[in-house]
Amino acid sequence: MKFLLWVAGVVVVTIIGAVIFIYSGIYNISATIPHNGLTHWIMSTTMDNSVKHHAKNIVVPDLSDSSKIEMGFVRYRAVCANCHGAPGVSQEELAAGLYPKPPKLVRTIHEWTPAELFWITKYGVKMTGMPAWGPTHSDDKIWYIVAFMEKMQKMTPEQYKNFSEEFKNEKD
Ligand code: HEC
Repeated sequence: MKFLLWVAGVVVVTIIGAVIFIYSGIYNISATIPHNGLTHWIMSTTMDNSVKHHAKNIVVPDLSDSSKIEMGFVRYRAVCANCHGAPGVSQEELAAGLYPKPPKLVRTIHEWTPAELFWITKYGVKMTGMPAWGPTHSDDKIWYIVAFMEKMQKMTPEQYKNFSEEFKNEKD
């Protein structure tokens, strides 16, 4: 009984402490201050596992059609490259100030399956700058972007440049 009272006391004091901490404003929410190691681990492990869990039943359509890849490129260039860059293309200014910083996707695409790329692109990532594109894109359009990303990971800067030239007047 004494032990239970002691545990209840610790819980109450922890809750009061947390409420005081939240209302005091002493926590610095600035995007220029990185998470500590524990918070970073919690956020990235939760994200990785959440994406894997939610994407596991997604059926991947055929992504090899070159017209799908081209449509995906036009969209990627319009709405993703500013934050994520592309082969030979730097990320734009806004990406430098985001926390977490958007990764250069050419380097990280291989870590995700096409179904996981689809899920991330459609639903976004809470508490980061990664928007959900599902509210503004059909599933088909999102698959086209995935088809392009799969292709992009093997593209040289030269090949990306040629691709850009070829579709420079393409509007979507
Ligand atoms: C406003 C900036 C911004 C834009 C625009 C943006 N993203 Fe992101 N994206 C992010 C950020 C920030 C993250 C990092 C999330 C994290 O650290 O967990 C991210 C993460 C991702 C990831 C996971 C990558 C990894 O290795 O963890 C994928 C895939 C992705 N974005 C795809 C896209 C696609 C496709 C588009 C365009 C349709 C897009 N993003 C547009 C900011 C952006």
